[in-house]
Amino acid sequence: MQIFKGESKYLINSKNRAEGFELLSSVNDKSIAAVFFDPQYRGILDKLKYGNEGKSRGKARSSLQQMNEAAIINFINEINRVLKGSGHLFLWVDKFHLCQGVLDWFLETELNLVDMIVWDKGKIGMGYRTRRKSEYLIVFQKSPVRAKSCWTDHAIPDVWEEKADKIHPHSKPVELQKRLIAATTVEGDVVLDPAAGGFSVLTACEQVGGRNFIGGDIAYDEK
Ligand SMILES: C[S@@+](CC[C@H](N)C(=O)[O-])C[C@H]1O[C@@H](n2cnc3c(N)ncnc32)[C@H](O)[C@@H]1O
Repeated sequence: MQIFKGESKYLINSKNRAEGFELLSSVNDKSIAAVFFDPQYRGILDKLKYGNEGKSRGKARSSLQQMNEAAIINFINEINRVLKGSGHLFLWVDKFHLCQGVLDWFLETELNLVDMIVWDKGKIGMGYRTRRKSEYLIVFQKSPVRAKSCWTDHAIPDVWEEKADKIHPHSKPVELQKRLIAATTVEGDVVLDPAAGGFSVLTACEQVGGRNFIGGDIAYDEK
């Protein structure tokens, strides 16, 4: 199947410097088996008024371009368009968005909430009250919702402990992403990550083997 609408400036199985919405817009309808989306959230900083962001240890994080809610919804609508029927979206969220709820972002889509995984990072982070040790991966499936034929690994625990390699300030766990890719895609399928950071999803695809990756990050420096 033709993945891009026309001739594309984006390379498959490579690290692209790309604006994620533009990259998504260049992809054909219903051509992608799985999407990982790890937005650069602005919400928690706004709500909790982390006024000292960027002054000390938050510098690497706060220098990354952030996405407001309208931008995130635009991405999700495009992800809905490019996913095949019964394809999966793996959406990384923090504690704030998990509690606040994200379902309003999905009102215009055919994406259904089907599962959630807690990632125990195996190390303790910051926090004004409790200190953060986990992040959350919400799993959506495009209609028609099917489990048996579309999720082949039934031994993945919903609490996953893994220390991520610190390639990027927000690096996600490669082993977990590998298990999910292997469970929900088959050889020749395409996995997309429109805000790829340190490209942990590309690494996961390479290690699973037989899958194609399309992705980019606005801040990726090719040099
Ligand atoms: C949370 S990080 C992703 C981390 C990634 N999952 C990993 O494992 O390394 C979010 C990334 O989104 C990127 N970003 C922000 N706005 C973007 C946009 N409009 N298009 C593409 N990337 C964007 C930031 O530069 C940042 O690297």
